[in-house]
Amino acid sequence: MDFVTYGMFSRDQSPTPLANLYGVHPFYMCVEDDSNAHGVLLLNSNAQDVSLSPNPSLTFRTIGGILDFYVFLGPTPENVIQQYTEAIGRPHMPAYWSLGFHLSRWGYASLDVVKKTVKRMHQYDIPFDVQHFDIDYMDRRLDFTYDKTNYAGLPEYIKELKTEGMHSVIILDPFISKDEEPGTYRPYDLGQEMGVWINNSDGVTPAIGKSLPPGYSVFPDYTNPRTVEWWTQLCLEFKDVLDYDGIWIDMNEPSNELTGQLPGCAANDINNPPYIPSITGRSLAQRTLCPDSRTYLGEHYNTHSLFGWSQTAPTFHVVQQATGKRAFVLSRSTFVGSGKHAAHWLGDNNSKWKDMHYSIIGMLEFNLFGIPFVGADICGFNSNTTYELCLRWTQLGSFYPFSRNHNAEGNAAQDPAVFGAEFAKIARSTLRIRYSLLPYLYTLFFESHVHGNTVVRSLMHEFTSDQQTHGIDTAFLWGPAFMVAPVLQEGARSVDVYFPEATWFDYYTGKKIPSTWHKTYATVHAPLNKIPLFIRGGHILPEQAPASTTTKSRLNPFGLIIALDEHGEASGSLFWDDGDSIDTIENENYFLAKYTFRAGRLTTEILKNGYRGADSLKYHKITILGLKRRPHAVAVNGRAVRSDSFSFELNGKLILGISAPLTQELNLAIH
Ligand code: NOJ
Repeated sequence: MDFVTYGMFSRDQSPTPLANLYGVHPFYMCVEDDSNAHGVLLLNSNAQDVSLSPNPSLTFRTIGGILDFYVFLGPTPENVIQQYTEAIGRPHMPAYWSLGFHLSRWGYASLDVVKKTVKRMHQYDIPFDVQHFDIDYMDRRLDFTYDKTNYAGLPEYIKELKTEGMHSVIILDPFISKDEEPGTYRPYDLGQEMGVWINNSDGVTPAIGKSLPPGYSVFPDYTNPRTVEWWTQLCLEFKDVLDYDGIWIDMNEPSNELTGQLPGCAANDINNPPYIPSITGRSLAQRTLCPDSRTYLGEHYNTHSLFGWSQTAPTFHVVQQATGKRAFVLSRSTFVGSGKHAAHWLGDNNSKWKDMHYSIIGMLEFNLFGIPFVGADICGFNSNTTYELCLRWTQLGSFYPFSRNHNAEGNAAQDPAVFGAEFAKIARSTLRIRYSLLPYLYTLFFESHVHGNTVVRSLMHEFTSDQQTHGIDTAFLWGPAFMVAPVLQEGARSVDVYFPEATWFDYYTGKKIPSTWHKTYATVHAPLNKIPLFIRGGHILPEQAPASTTTKSRLNPFGLIIALDEHGEASGSLFWDDGDSIDTIENENYFLAKYTFRAGRLTTEILKNGYRGADSLKYHKITILGLKRRPHAVAVNGRAVRSDSFSFELNGKLILGISAPLTQELNLAIH
């Protein structure tokens, strides 16, 4: 609030404080001193400033469009986001596999290197669901081609991954080369025939810029329905070449190496308005097209920041159509409402400790923007990472909703299997915690999709009246109940963790955090092999035995972690479906259970039992944290549990081995 101004205009810009970045979200949430929260959206896509002062005050200053304001009255931070996403569109329900671990890099340079990398991941048995293919799979960086020399055999390899229960995501850029031999590059020829490009100010001749492909390129105008037809057709045709499961849409700010298209921007008021917001270069054309270019929806001056957004829904729909399954689309540029169709990564960060810290802020922000499926490039994108940074980042990134290790061309490999056995063992164990908690994460995504809740949230969202939580950006929560407190400093072997007033348990030991630590920072031990994790009393978290892919883990037995509050109570829920069919909720093909623990009894209310694939699944393990004494007897569904199938630890942790069907009510009594 210290007299800063944020310029907003989408830009190909690696995350830098105060710079305008890839996406535009003219939305804020404010928590007042009395803990009431509200939100305001200025639904406006023009270049704009947001200025803050300690009055406190916030000023929007836009250079065009409509002053279309929405006010969301809360009163809690979660209410504000529920109301905001009700207005702009709720986040899509992700495919279950896409919540697994993703591996990527720019610059594998050949399929052989990809194969070797995947192989070493498997050798160390590191949980791993999705392989990404960045631009080096393409022939000379041309969309809808693949390199038949360095990536010979790619179609077969993608099929092979599929048979192993893995998934593949391919990148597509928005620029199309215009300089291939006529008749040899169908994406250009067809687009030219259909008239799908962004045009110059004459509205007729295509705007020509320069980016990754050889020669010069034109830019599809996704605000034009004809462009959507063209894109849909090409993506469908390409599915027969590469059997992709998801599409990664990059550079869609849109990025251009030139300042404006050829031959440069004309001297007029639109290209040089009397006021330019505080954006990098103080130029509306820098690294993109001239503002007076024409799109179907209007001048680029108005639609620039909508480019990525306009590409997202069509890509989502074609992935659905091509795969017949739930779509995975990863977009770099986003605007209000993008979360309805896309996941987002935070862009080209640096392999630096401070960038790892920033990633928490970015992740929390995108949860406010209704794009909860978000993460940063684990281990950092630009420059070489180090062993310790990458290890700590792998631990943190295991708890990004979108968990992907990605790296830039020319940098040393940084996949979790490349650093040797010790690193791999730690990565494996952390990712296995992620995988075991995926039923909880998936249920949070269900809540987000249906009610608009955040998936990852700041401590302030849950403990709003505790002012000390307001500034915390070093720890975060999955939903209301699971705290992640990563190590963010080189050489550190402990973390100072703030524990708001609640019952907290150490995830690893089940031991209760002493109440003397409440409302203070406590120093928690964090050797290299451990990321501090805590469970909040009062909540029940569903879990499932982990495996090397979600395809396998989805068949494993379930468990419940019942973390009791000071009254000995807890509640929670589980959403489950087949994980990748379209509209399972609308079609009522899902399972939803609500669990309540009170007065020594767990009861289950099955709210929906519409997914027959859940019938063969079982509960095998119940963990109760915070019991005051060793139980005399335990009964599951009315039958006494033999004392050798439960273990009690003096710290109040009870583990029960059981075998009960998931789709029948589970009742538990503890005496
Ligand atoms: C820029 C993207 O942000 C990055 O993730 C990608 O690797 C490169 N483009 C190359 O496609």
